[in-house]
Amino acid sequence: MSVDTKAIPSQILRRVRETVRANDAWRSHTINLIASENVLSPAARSVLDSDLLHRYAEGHPGGRYYEGTRYVDEIETLTAEAMCRIFKASWSDVRPISGTVANEAVFSRIVPQGAPAIAHTVAGGGHISHARIGSLGKRTKNIHAWPMQDDGYTIDVDVARDLIAKEKPAVVVLGRSLFLFPEPVAELSEVCRENGTRMLYDGAHVLGLIAAGEFQDPLHEGADVLNGSTHKTFFGPQRGVMLSDGGDEAFNKTLDKGVFPGSSSNHHLFSLPALLVSALEVETFGREYAKATIANARALGASLAKRGFVVSMADRGYSASHQVAVDVAPFGGGKDVSARLCSQDIICNMNLLPGEPGKNAFNPRGVRLGVQELTRFGLGPDEMDVVADLMHAAVTAGRDVRPEVQALRDRFPEVKYGFAVTDLG
Ligand SMILES: Cc1ncc(COP(=O)(O)O)c(C=O)c1O
Repeated sequence: MSVDTKAIPSQILRRVRETVRANDAWRSHTINLIASENVLSPAARSVLDSDLLHRYAEGHPGGRYYEGTRYVDEIETLTAEAMCRIFKASWSDVRPISGTVANEAVFSRIVPQGAPAIAHTVAGGGHISHARIGSLGKRTKNIHAWPMQDDGYTIDVDVARDLIAKEKPAVVVLGRSLFLFPEPVAELSEVCRENGTRMLYDGAHVLGLIAAGEFQDPLHEGADVLNGSTHKTFFGPQRGVMLSDGGDEAFNKTLDKGVFPGSSSNHHLFSLPALLVSALEVETFGREYAKATIANARALGASLAKRGFVVSMADRGYSASHQVAVDVAPFGGGKDVSARLCSQDIICNMNLLPGEPGKNAFNPRGVRLGVQELTRFGLGPDEMDVVADLMHAAVTAGRDVRPEVQALRDRFPEVKYGFAVTDLG
């Protein structure tokens, strides 16, 4: 990035406010289909700006390395308890400041240098933190890819069992960034146990669906630890969380050390109250929201297919999550199409498709679409059909659909499935 060193501070200052306002104004009338994002309720948003923006609280409530933490101790305890309730977990850590930091906390403590591991490749839908060039790769380059069935998406469980028995990995990672259907947690948990392998389920994307009981229940199907982001389908502020069940105290202590001092010091206290409000919203509205989200993803997949797009995993109903993956190679590929859509105020990201060789990550065949944010604004299956129509018009006919995008969004200005500011008393 080039920097204008002659710019005057007062000019830049004005520009700061202008750019923030411009982004707010623009984003409020776009169709956002980025699958890793969501919006906060007014209640959660209202508790973000507080003195906690300035504070530190290393350690745990009741056992801090700093004085002055009596109020944040209460918030953190209530948040950790809410997370345990929601996921029926016996242990949670709400200090990781993101899903990647939560993954780093696990890998840094349970993967000896150079030990074998199994994870999804990026082309298989895996996250960069599971890759050789990411967090796991800092511990080991000996990362095997999950064996896949012919559809390029579904893990071949028999081959995977043999691989675990042969390699005896320190960790296997289930869960992905392109996450359309549940993982074979129950099918693989026994062979992991027999071979001393820990199973990390990375539920960054589907955490809100798991919370609602609408996807799968990794902790009770056999995963040792469930990590997640708290700002995707779990519609809170940008943070991470780690959960376990079964009361393995030594293991929990190991994970605890991975979070602090392993991967963070200050854990961004200001967003903990917003996470607590959001967790209570998930407890209250989560099931209804998750059902609507999954129904919308399927509806969007069907509406796009009806208009001639090739949508991945058609034979399984496109998706059981908040995402769908679409092959846009006939229209120029994921990079070109996502840029064209963005110019029409429809925002998504390019993505490798299931089974696509990962050579062309800079212009893959696909785009990944997530409906969790539109669902939070209250859009339903009828509106998914409109979204598909607008995408079709923008991509295949080059039509300027921005007025229609704005008109659609203007009908749904409010965040649903959440509390109002007045609910806070
Ligand atoms: C599977 C997976 N894990 C982890 C992350 C990272 O989450 P965060 O952005 O909270 O660090 C992502 C990001 O989208 C993801 O897709």
